[in-house]
Amino acid sequence: MSEADQNIINTTVVEEDFDLDNSLRPKKLSDYVGQVAIKENLDIFISAAKKRDEAVEHILLYGPPGLGKTTLAHIIANEMGANIRVTSGTAIERAGDLASILTSLQDGDILFVDEIHRLNRNIEEVLYPAMEDFAIDMILGKGPSAKTLRLDVPRFTLIGATTKIGALSSPLRDRFGNIFRLEFYTDEELEEIVKRSAKILNIKHRGNGLKEISKRSRKTPRVANRILKRVRDFAEVKHQGEIDEEIAELALSMLDIDKLGLDKTDRMILEIIIDKFSGGPVGLDALAAAASEDRDTIEDVIEPYLMRLGFIDRTPRGRIATPGAYEHLGRIKESDEKQKLL
Ligand SMILES: Nc1ncnc2c1ncn2[C@@H]1O[C@H](COP(=O)(O)OP(=O)(O)OP(=O)(O)O)[C@@H](O)[C@H]1O
Ligand SMILES: [Mg+2]
Repeated sequence: MSEADQNIINTTVVEEDFDLDNSLRPKKLSDYVGQVAIKENLDIFISAAKKRDEAVEHILLYGPPGLGKTTLAHIIANEMGANIRVTSGTAIERAGDLASILTSLQDGDILFVDEIHRLNRNIEEVLYPAMEDFAIDMILGKGPSAKTLRLDVPRFTLIGATTKIGALSSPLRDRFGNIFRLEFYTDEELEEIVKRSAKILNIKHRGNGLKEISKRSRKTPRVANRILKRVRDFAEVKHQGEIDEEIAELALSMLDIDKLGLDKTDRMILEIIIDKFSGGPVGLDALAAAASEDRDTIEDVIEPYLMRLGFIDRTPRGRIATPGAYEHLGRIKESDEKQKLL
C-alpha cells in the first residue's frame, strides 16, 4: 500500500492535511456540526464571560484524533474575539519557554496547548499557579540564597487538547474548569460535514455519493474530508469530476476501506486477536508486537473506533474480539463450530 493510501485512515496529521484542515475548518460555533452538548455548554460560557467582560474558564478537550479539538479551540477564540496563541506539549521544552509565553500574553488571550499530556512535569508545575492565580513563581539564583519571585501573568484562558486523557496528571486535570469529551459523529452529522466540504471545494456530486463517503469515514471529520478529496480524484479521472454512489464505492474499495470504514490495519488487528490469540484476551504490548504497530497508534487511533463499533472489548486481562468482529470478518468462533458439530 502506498503511503498516501495509508494516510486516509491513519488519523495522524500529514502535510496535505494542514491546508485541507484549514480551508475546511468552520469558524463559528453555529457552523460546527454535531457535538451538541459541548456546543450548548460553550455557548453559555462564552456569552456569560462576554457579559462579565472576563476570560472563559480553562477548557480541556479530549478524544480521538480528527474529531475537531483544534477547530473548537479556534472557534472559541473567534467567538470571544480573543487572540489565540498556539503551541504544543512537545514544543515547550523548558519551564522558561512556558514562562515567556505566559508573560507575553494579554488579558483575555487564549493559550492553546495541543498534546498537553506531553508536557513535562516540571513544566506543568509552572502552569498550576498560572492557571489558578494568574501568577508564576520564578526562582532566582541557586542554592541556599535562591529566592522565589512571584510574577503576575495576564488573565488568559488555557485550552488544552489531548487524545490521551489518562496520561494527564490529576493536578493538571483538576485545574480545568471545563472538561469536554468529543464523541464520534453520527453518519448524518458526517454527511452534513462532507456536504459542506464539497461545497467549499466546489466538488460536484449527485445521488448518494456523499452519503457513501460519510458512512465509511470512521465517524471522523478529518477522515471524511480526506476520503472526499481522494474520491474526487477518482471522479475526475473516470467520471468527469462528478461523485456518485458508484464512483464512491469504486474509489473506497480501491483504497481498501470496507463497508464499515475499516481499513487493512483495522482488519489486521482484529485478525491477530482472533487468529493468534484465539479471540483474546490479549495485552496491548503483545498485540502491538504481533502487529508490528506502534502501541500508541493502536490505543489512540485504531482501538477507539473498533470499540465504538463494538468489535473490541477491553477487559482487565486485555482486549477481546467480540462476536460482532467475528461476524464482520466472516469468521466462525471456534467454540461455535464445536457446538455445531455436537
Ligand atoms: N464539528 C465539525 N464540523 C465540521 N468540520 C469539522 C468538525 N470537526 C472537525 N472538522 C473538520 O475536521 C478537520 C480536523 O479537525 P481538527 O483538526 O480540529 O481535529 P483534532 O481533534 O484537533 O485532531 P488531532 O487530535 O489530530 O489534533 C478540520 O479541519 C475540520 O475541517
Ligand atoms: Mg488538533
